[in-house]
Amino acid sequence: MYLSREEERMLSGEEGAAVQKAMQLLTALGEVFGAERMVKVESAQIAGVSYGNIGDAGMEFLEDWANLGGKVRVKATLNPAGMDLNKWQEMGVDGEYYKKQIRILKAFEKMGVEITCTCTPYLVGNRPRFGAHVAWSESSAVVFANSVLGARTNREGGPSALAAAITGRTPCYGLHIEDNREPTAIVKVEARMRSIFDFSLLGYTVGRILGSGIPYLKGVSGADLDRLKIMSAALAASGGIAMFHSGGRLRAADKLEKVCVDQRELELSREKLSSEGKPDLACIGCPHCSLQELKDLARAVKGKKVKKGCALWVWTSNGVYDEAKDRGYLSVIEGAGGKVFTDTCMVVCPLEKSGYTHMVSNSCKAAHYVPSTSGLRATVTETYLVLESIMEGR
Ligand code: F3S
Repeated sequence: MYLSREEERMLSGEEGAAVQKAMQLLTALGEVFGAERMVKVESAQIAGVSYGNIGDAGMEFLEDWANLGGKVRVKATLNPAGMDLNKWQEMGVDGEYYKKQIRILKAFEKMGVEITCTCTPYLVGNRPRFGAHVAWSESSAVVFANSVLGARTNREGGPSALAAAITGRTPCYGLHIEDNREPTAIVKVEARMRSIFDFSLLGYTVGRILGSGIPYLKGVSGADLDRLKIMSAALAASGGIAMFHSGGRLRAADKLEKVCVDQRELELSREKLSSEGKPDLACIGCPHCSLQELKDLARAVKGKKVKKGCALWVWTSNGVYDEAKDRGYLSVIEGAGGKVFTDTCMVVCPLEKSGYTHMVSNSCKAAHYVPSTSGLRATVTETYLVLESIMEGR
């Protein structure tokens, strides 16, 4: 692989051991994927943050890198951590877990990474320009960045995203290359698309049917930011999809695979992600809620109350949380008995410590992962039905 003189210096150790380690990792990755050169990145979004996911070995790996003098040279934010950094006790997290999670965050902080732990970095200041190369890890954010923002990123692992942040480079392969960003299949959408949940189901269904590739979605209207956000998450959960198109030029359409998604296919996905029995924990915010979603939620729960034995847990980034608090949305949600957590989510926190047994959500991604990450049963449905199932009142 061709390396510039500066990149050669990084690899030879002239810029320190931490940079050398990062460049060794990136060149090895580039060799595996046949990259011909490196490309400069504008930002990184780093996964592998939750103590529950990376454990002691991951924590020590990060501390070692930080102790070698690793420092990021581009804007870098984090994926959700394993707990709310302030309200961790309300989640049932124990003191030992808390201490280890803080050690992980301190290692990142020492390397200059912003302690903004979210899968929606584009809502809170880490929003790449159209055409910019970035190194992002979180699968829903990767789909959103490639498809909605027009940035270019592969689905990075935590270490490769951190290495990209430390060197400002990533190997140029996959979705960094224009020709690899063309659609590979045409998806004709014949289902009714009316709600945010419909978009989540559509994403999940397309991922389930195609498995991989770059779908070109035809016949989708009414997509706003929140709908695209939840669809991006679902596309990456059921399949290995990292990008979609929903308009624009279509080259060689006759050579592409064609599939149709109708109401019956969406219903199949809903059934696949739903369990028997009554849910006791409603989760909204996969991906992390936007300000608009918190506003809508506050309106929906006003005058209602969470039923005894049930809970409403809402997940967002700390930037959106602060704004929602200033606007009074949080006091309404909390007044109805809900809790709003930041820096973490239902999939990467130890949800089994909550004491609840059956999660209901409007997010197919949440329902896809929660049973395997925490053992709770899961159900997906429309947002208003999520709320109806655990709330009472007007
Ligand atoms: Fe975000 Fe967690 Fe869902 S990282 S996309 S809220 S699984």
